[in-house]
Amino acid sequence: MNLHQSSLDIIRTAQAPSGAYVAAPTFSQYRYAWLRDGAWIAYGMDCAGQHDSARAFYTWVGRTLEKQRDRVERLLDMLAQNVTPADADYLPTRFTPDGAIGTDDWWDFQLDGYGAWLWGLAAHVDMTGDRALWAALEPAVALTVRYLAPLWQSTNYDCWEEHRDQIHVSTLAALYGGLSAVQRRSPALVPGGLPEAIRAFTLQTGVAPGGHLVKSLGSDAVDASLLWAAVPYGLLDVEDERFARTLARIERDLRRPGGGVYRYAADVYYGGGEWILLAAWLAWVYIELGRRAEARELVAWIEAQASEDGALPEQVSDHLLHPAHFAEWEARWGTVARPLLWSHGMVLIVESRLEKP
Ligand code: BGC
Repeated sequence: MNLHQSSLDIIRTAQAPSGAYVAAPTFSQYRYAWLRDGAWIAYGMDCAGQHDSARAFYTWVGRTLEKQRDRVERLLDMLAQNVTPADADYLPTRFTPDGAIGTDDWWDFQLDGYGAWLWGLAAHVDMTGDRALWAALEPAVALTVRYLAPLWQSTNYDCWEEHRDQIHVSTLAALYGGLSAVQRRSPALVPGGLPEAIRAFTLQTGVAPGGHLVKSLGSDAVDASLLWAAVPYGLLDVEDERFARTLARIERDLRRPGGGVYRYAADVYYGGGEWILLAAWLAWVYIELGRRAEARELVAWIEAQASEDGALPEQVSDHLLHPAHFAEWEARWGTVARPLLWSHGMVLIVESRLEKP
């Protein structure tokens, strides 16, 4: 089994003709396209040289967001008039592959995916030099920026679709990363000082007395998604002391020695397993820090989790944090999603970096 090839095949097969990446084609709740998952899948495909696939995804995002232009204008009007929007007034978290909003209830109102797609598109254009694509998508980029500018300090669901009433540091990092990437390409699209204000706010409110970033404002816990604050969003340099302390806490609290990475200590979703995409994220951070042996060890663990046909799950359930919660999720939604495209996208990202000396 060749995990590189199976990752490419799985992603290609699950990419809809529209360009959307379905999160997990055989898991009923995940037969939708998320901007968050999609951006990392597309970046993985870009890292593997499959730029046409990534391009189709970004073109789909552009078309999909254009359909939401009126919704965004209505929302901005409400905010301007100090009317509090209902959650259904915001942009959704996931779309059907043909770019419609799903009809079933979901934990909508999550902002990080809107930062992720901006970051991913800019990375795609950097890698391919496809400035025509950037120009074609500029209206959708501008719409996203206008949407995020008045909302970035709002409470909203985190990247795990939980805790609606809090402000999450990894969400702020995604917004910083996405908006800075736009600012570098098209400064006129971003209100002056916005990325810097997000960074300053995050570092003022999102660092615990112990000097590490926190999962959400006011908490002391860490979440493994904080890895992206440094790599790739660059809210902190990977060598920054505050990031070093965050990494140390993640290693202490969320890394299973010799195994994978948990999302956060209180995670009960499917009992709280080890996530493939987070193991890959930690490997990515290690590569940036020159800790390649540890990155390789994580990649070996990931490879060992693939099925015979090279499919990776969302999470591995062998060493659960809260085993008593596993059965309720399995009864509700069936076995853990496999293949999860985001897991495969992350493998492609890490592999491409390990190949470089
Ligand atoms: C995860 C999200 C992800 C979604 C689709 C959820 O369970 O918490 O981060 O976007 O699945 O993969």
